[in-house]
Amino acid sequence: MNVAIPVHSRTGNTRSVADRMQQTLESAGHAVRIIDVRTTGGSGQEPGETVFDGVTTLSGYDGIIFGSPVHAFSLAPDMEAFMKVLPPLEGKTVACFVTQAFPFPWMGGTRAVRQMAKLCRARGATVSGTGVVNWGRTCREKLIRRAVEKITSVFR
Ligand SMILES: Cc1cc2nc3c(=O)[nH]c(=O)nc-3n(C[C@H](O)[C@H](O)[C@H](O)COP(=O)(O)O)c2cc1C
Repeated sequence: MNVAIPVHSRTGNTRSVADRMQQTLESAGHAVRIIDVRTTGGSGQEPGETVFDGVTTLSGYDGIIFGSPVHAFSLAPDMEAFMKVLPPLEGKTVACFVTQAFPFPWMGGTRAVRQMAKLCRARGATVSGTGVVNWGRTCREKLIRRAVEKITSVFR
């Protein structure tokens, strides 16, 4: 399968989880491209102008994994801006994940990942998997492995 991972990451946490998903999927024979969703311009605060790695369409991909940090108990505004202008996603295998500093998913992670799923459904997608990684937990590595396994298993 041809899989895209559009990911927003300010300090690298979410990107590192995307990297691990890429490795896992590539080992299983999939072709994977990570698309960095970034903000430029303005005062440097989100949302500025959202740019994403020169990719203007997701039409060439059969699978898409959206990744974002949690900001202010919600989906990061930059990722929200990106996901609000997504092309139609009908027929694609879609999954979403977030990373957050606070220790429990109910502290913003669950809400953020639900926001992502809702935006995907608005574009015609069925969301097959979601994941939350609580970065501040001592068991972070276990949470990362669990999220990577849960999301990538959707593509088997
Ligand atoms: C502006 C801002 C707001 C944040 N708000 C939350 C929050 O509400 N809940 C939470 O758990 N973490 C919050 N965080 C922490 C990030 O979600 C967390 O560190 C995440 O793993 C960062 O991912 P990144 O390195 O990919 O940017 C916030 C971080 C920033 C910069």
